[in-house]
Amino acid sequence: MPIRTPPSNFRLESGGPLMPILIGAKPESDFTDPVGMLGDCHRRIVRFLNVLVSLSKENGKPLSEEHRKLLATSLRYFREGAPKHTADEEESLFPRLRRLDVPGLQTVLTTIDSLEQDHECAVRSHVEVDRLGCLWLTNGGLAPEDASRFAILLNQLATLYLHHIGTEDTQVFPFAAAALSSADRRAIGAEMAARRGLSPTIESGIAAAR
Ligand SMILES: [Fe+2]
Ligand SMILES: [Fe+2]
Repeated sequence: MPIRTPPSNFRLESGGPLMPILIGAKPESDFTDPVGMLGDCHRRIVRFLNVLVSLSKENGKPLSEEHRKLLATSLRYFREGAPKHTADEEESLFPRLRRLDVPGLQTVLTTIDSLEQDHECAVRSHVEVDRLGCLWLTNGGLAPEDASRFAILLNQLATLYLHHIGTEDTQVFPFAAAALSSADRRAIGAEMAARRGLSPTIESGIAAAR
């Protein structure tokens, strides 16, 4: 798996305030389908973001042990996993789209420029969310102003991601899936695997697909 999935105790008890949606219905893509993998990453981003948004409604009060684990897991995902997704896009996918010579490219390139600005904005917010979330875990609670800031940041991130992921899923990724050569797809898959310390030839069957 390219990114660690939530632990088995990720789901909260029935009726709790947080009910992360676990992936199950659709098998995840592998490195032979890097664009599909990027879409899978979006589902993880939404899932972990939803956890943080829900926790922000606790207003910084002391958390149960289960909620502390959810907070720590979600913060770690955005600290360690999500940046790999951004790198997949900015270092592997977008540069190859910029090199294409196909109809409709200019519109996509303009969109990509905007998406990269979103990434910068999201990184700044996540740094602050991580600082406040870690403070919550360390001190067992947040001061009212910090809890309020935590909630504001997460609401802003939810709005940003709603538009950002929607744009990538409905415009950029379908364009990429149709326009990229098989050689580009293999190269992107290999780079994504390397980014996660994996060997694409062994762990995703890319060699067999060549
Ligand atoms: Fe993105
Ligand atoms: Fe994305």
